[in-house]
Amino acid sequence: MSQPTIESILQEKRLFHPPAEFSQNAHIKSLDEYKQLYEKAQADPEGFWAELAEKELHWFEKWHQVLDWQPPFAKWFVGGKINISYNCLDRHLTTWRRNKAALIWEGEPGDSRTLTYAELHREVCQMANVIKQLGVQKGDRVGIYMPMIPEAAIAMLACARIGAPHTVVFGGFSAEALKDRLEDAEAKLVITADGGWRKDAIVPLKEQVDKALQAGASSVDNVLVVKRTAQDIHMEPGRDHWWHDLQQGASGKCPAEPMDSEDMLFILYTSGTTGKPKGVVHTTGGYNLYSHITLKWAFDLQETDVYWCTADVGWITGHSYIVYGPLSNGATTLMYEGVPRPSNPGCLWDVVEKYGVNIFYTAPTAIRALMKMGEHHPNARDLSSLRLLGTVGEPINPEAWIWYHRVIGGNRCPIVDTWWQTETGGFMITPLPGATPTKPGSATLPFPGIIADVVDADGEPVTNQSGGYLVVKHPWPGMMRTVYKDPDRFRRTYWEHLRPANGEYIYFAGDGAHQDEDGYFWVMGRVDDVINVSGHRLGTMEIESALVSHPMVAEAAVVGKPDEVKGEEIVAFVTLEGENQPTEALEKELKQHVVNEIGAIARPGEIRFTDDLPKTRSGKIMRRLLRNLAAGQEISGDTSTLQDRSVLEKLRGGA
Ligand code: WT7
Repeated sequence: MSQPTIESILQEKRLFHPPAEFSQNAHIKSLDEYKQLYEKAQADPEGFWAELAEKELHWFEKWHQVLDWQPPFAKWFVGGKINISYNCLDRHLTTWRRNKAALIWEGEPGDSRTLTYAELHREVCQMANVIKQLGVQKGDRVGIYMPMIPEAAIAMLACARIGAPHTVVFGGFSAEALKDRLEDAEAKLVITADGGWRKDAIVPLKEQVDKALQAGASSVDNVLVVKRTAQDIHMEPGRDHWWHDLQQGASGKCPAEPMDSEDMLFILYTSGTTGKPKGVVHTTGGYNLYSHITLKWAFDLQETDVYWCTADVGWITGHSYIVYGPLSNGATTLMYEGVPRPSNPGCLWDVVEKYGVNIFYTAPTAIRALMKMGEHHPNARDLSSLRLLGTVGEPINPEAWIWYHRVIGGNRCPIVDTWWQTETGGFMITPLPGATPTKPGSATLPFPGIIADVVDADGEPVTNQSGGYLVVKHPWPGMMRTVYKDPDRFRRTYWEHLRPANGEYIYFAGDGAHQDEDGYFWVMGRVDDVINVSGHRLGTMEIESALVSHPMVAEAAVVGKPDEVKGEEIVAFVTLEGENQPTEALEKELKQHVVNEIGAIARPGEIRFTDDLPKTRSGKIMRRLLRNLAAGQEISGDTSTLQDRSVLEKLRGGA
């Protein structure tokens, strides 16, 4: 099993100290220094964040109040005027960084581009002017549906520059999923490309946009199309525009709009426990500070580093740690379009060698897949430039951690296991690599200013090691502000599950965790109906509603089953409408149906047809039992609330 269990990780006693030479040059050099920062922040959180905001960012106008906390709604740096595109670009242009590589890009077919800060600034300004010319004004939402090409980052920065909140939709999502998100955000413009390269094939992005706009999303009146893959595509006259046409003649100057600190910067949709994805809202000032300082300290970002995060810009990791965090710090950020594939299993290590990458950040599922491909791929490349490794997305099993450390890190690079979420904006629990001794499988200690805890169902702290719910007890600058157009859902989902006796509002993350004798956090995975497939977060209800939208399906229940590489795999239990009979063809069709409704990341690994689903007397599907069945385990725990015991027998027989 790849997911660590309490038993397996309680036996994990190995401790890795930061190498002395690493600590010497690091921003935070010792555990004592970390503790001092932590205590300082705890004693005076507002003073702590205000001092950093002043020192690390450019403000057009200073705030008059650091924090306005009306639980669960927070405002940070109230009254401050700021622009994150300015902080990521303009302020570097008056220094030697003007001609430093801001963005290094490697395409899947092997083409590449490097943009200096001056060049990136110019293109961002051009795109900002084009967007304005297409009628987008401050406050209007813009959808971005792009492959991993520089224009994805350029589009985000261009939107931020003119104060148009973006909503990036991962290029692997289907037309249907894209339509839903564009509709919820009421986007006016979509920025896309003809296609992107993925595993030696073209992903036809523009075609998906066409389908989405045919099906709905009537708020969209223009589409800006970047030429990437150059196959023939349909261009709707009056609606669709080539970027290279409009770029010609667009001015390379566009002043950054002074934004209110609390103006919305972006919406990013993520899966929750209901069928409908939530629009997570992040605002400008607090998010800028938080993505900036967490990256600087947890990845010990230095001026000459080449930093590479392998995420897609469609996820929060791409927002905070490919685009905004690195550029705000004036770092060199690397973006790669490809993924390891049969035709090039060693491609990641070629990129490390080619650009002398110093910091590398990826997900446990990728590490496990790379382990399977064999050590000979990394061993055949020069990886000596690497000095720090990071991981995110799910609990990392100690075997994968040790392999990463030994084979990729040459036993010399610290590993930062960063626990955070779309909602948190940036790292919450993470080692600081020059300071924190690491334990394989633990995200270690909270970032300074973050008060994390493990509590029971009553919201009271759990003191023993049996574990409980992971929570955060004080607002932080990078936190989500609300669910777009649904503040009630924000309150219900994150703040009203657990209410301690003292009445405090605490943030419920949806993860289980426990703390060991050193105060280290061990995150165990989701405690709600969210599953984690290859580091992608999917709501079981979302997949279920996709399945029942098929005319032959009566009912569906989706659970995760442990998978060696992906972490979890999707298993769907399905009952059919009327006289319909299960066939192999139907199984295929249903899998494809889910792909059409959501995207390939949600394709069920297995569909099990059944006449009935196990339910409680009140009609609730007992997913716990289905999880046991899917994993091939004995049914554990109480089954006394089961309505009809024969259902289990049948499911067992049929399974
Ligand atoms: C969920 C958030 C934050 C970017 C990636 C995913 C899981 C994330 C870790 C980690 C254990 C982790 C949690 C969390 N998760 N990082 N280092 N150790 N679990 O963002 O899609 O918002 O998912 O990913 O379950 O709640 P996301």
